[in-house]
Amino acid sequence: MEKLINDQFNKELYSVNLYLSMSSYFKSRDLDGFAHFFRIQAKEENMHAMKQFDYIHQVDGVIAMQEVAAPPNTFESIKQVFELSLTHERLVTKSIYNIVEQALNDKDFATHAFFQWFITEQVEEEATVKTLIKKIEMIGDNSSSLYLLNDELLKRPSVVPDVELK
Ligand code: FEO
Repeated sequence: MEKLINDQFNKELYSVNLYLSMSSYFKSRDLDGFAHFFRIQAKEENMHAMKQFDYIHQVDGVIAMQEVAAPPNTFESIKQVFELSLTHERLVTKSIYNIVEQALNDKDFATHAFFQWFITEQVEEEATVKTLIKKIEMIGDNSSSLYLLNDELLKRPSVVPDVELK
């Protein structure tokens, strides 16, 4: 179980890098709202990683830092970025389900309970990305609608307080 959570921790760190890369892509296209959206997303992923970091220590485990794979640095389109994000989140969801299933098999009820928060979080994350994909499809080539969505995304608040090490 410790290995599974360590691997999940690594996936969350990869998510941070992936979303920073996407944020950078949008910055370079002068789409500050989209860039802001993914920057906040990266911050949330860091929060996920730190929750797992703290949990491992609470149960007297050890974090074994691993190499974090490089995310893609180039993207074909706005829509492709969101599709990649959805694909990635679905993989993360699968990975969390795997941990929860294993926790149940091992009668590790603490880990089972801890990951319930992540199950709910994944539902929200996937739903957010799916909604944005639909909006992007509706916008098509309409640049004024794109500008409005960019403006809307600029208002995404950060729900993550600064992480405190425990
Ligand atoms: Fe940490 Fe987006 O899942």
